[in-house]
Amino acid sequence: MIHATPASLEETFSPPADSVLWRKDFLLGAATAAYQIEGAVDEDGRLPSIWDTFCATPGKVLAGDTGAIACDHYHRWEADLDLLSSLKMEGYRLSIAWPRVMDQAGKPNAKGIAFYRNLLQRLKQKGIRTFVTLYHWDLPQHLEDHGGWVNRDTAYRFAEYADLMSRELSGLVDAWATLNEPWCSAAHGYGSGHHAPGKSDPVYATQAMHHLLLGHGLAVQALRANDPQAQVGIVANVGRGTTNGKGVNDQRAAQLFEVQHNNWVLDPLLKKEYPLALFELWPGTEPLVLKGDMEIIGVPLDFLGINYYFRTNVVSDGKHGYREVDLLDVERTQMGWEVYPDGLRDLLVGFHRTYPNLPPIYITENGTASDDKVVDGQVDDRARISFLNRHLAAVDAAVKQGVDVRGYFIWSLMDNFEWAFGYERRFGIVHVDYATQQRTPKRSAQLVTQFLERRKALP
Ligand code: FCB
Repeated sequence: MIHATPASLEETFSPPADSVLWRKDFLLGAATAAYQIEGAVDEDGRLPSIWDTFCATPGKVLAGDTGAIACDHYHRWEADLDLLSSLKMEGYRLSIAWPRVMDQAGKPNAKGIAFYRNLLQRLKQKGIRTFVTLYHWDLPQHLEDHGGWVNRDTAYRFAEYADLMSRELSGLVDAWATLNEPWCSAAHGYGSGHHAPGKSDPVYATQAMHHLLLGHGLAVQALRANDPQAQVGIVANVGRGTTNGKGVNDQRAAQLFEVQHNNWVLDPLLKKEYPLALFELWPGTEPLVLKGDMEIIGVPLDFLGINYYFRTNVVSDGKHGYREVDLLDVERTQMGWEVYPDGLRDLLVGFHRTYPNLPPIYITENGTASDDKVVDGQVDDRARISFLNRHLAAVDAAVKQGVDVRGYFIWSLMDNFEWAFGYERRFGIVHVDYATQQRTPKRSAQLVTQFLERRKALP
């Protein structure tokens, strides 16, 4: 059942006067990722990525969709950046496709690099702050052929890629993020197999995570050396786990859910250790960690990117773990994800208490999917407007409890290729008609733009 929300939350975007959103130094922007929007998968020397391979495997992606064309952003980037600035966005989070910028031998691909240089130069001219993610899941397939992230060598290849990009693009990037959501790469890519490369073994998952994080730490060194003006960080997806069970074991189950989703990534980064409880859940999966690895992984960060979407209800599985049980009667998005803004506030406040060295936070993704349609040139996406209002209020509540949150990026600038769900799920504040590639800003985009104009006009 969808609970009715007050009309003001669905129809207007006007945060309370004391909200952090009114602060001009609180960055508001929108996010995308290379494979989800670019298309042009075999142009200008781009190599295949694990997502090209995964999409070509029958049954892996809904309706057999692929990123081959996507939003055709590779050819339409200039118009898309004009759109971004017409929406008055102050920040843009994008990612670089690793397979576009290096060949198999690790040599630079000038055409691929030129694409990103032009893009970043234009963003700079427009005065839009850039958050650039190096790895948003599109591993070059030739590296996967040698074991991908389960192979330690991939961490070193990633550091070389970071080194090349930060030499080539130095001065054009405001903030570098090494990885997007290593949890998804490890758990979905190598654990459940729901994402590329579609491997399924918990031992692979924990080892892949270790190499992803090692690659992150090594990349940070290169980014800092080559582009000392830029901020350097990482983006983690986090999930809220709660229980409607009554037993002590159910409480423990909810904690374990969060250990598995959040601490698995944040503890190595911020405490230089893996949470022991992770290996209670998955006995015998401890990764091979070499001397010095945890020091590299735990390098101090300038910022932590947080991606938040939903909460999960769990109960004890009767053994040492947890089992997910869907709550009935809750509001859900087109993805089936529960709309639960308090989860974002609670997680932020919780991290602030748990990690004394928590870096400043940017919400690098938050948003919702809905079955949006263009009617008479308009897209009425009131569920999204309500979602954004409530999640931004949750961020504000966390700030008021002392958490240092400096900005928020809406996922996503435009409808795009939503991984295993293909094009059916629409996350954009701009509607994309995939047959014509026409972009139509939805009502949510119009309202956010009006807000940004009002904020800018303030003294
Ligand atoms: C996140 C991904 C992003 C997008 C959203 C909906 O896990 O980082 O690319 O697909 O989910």
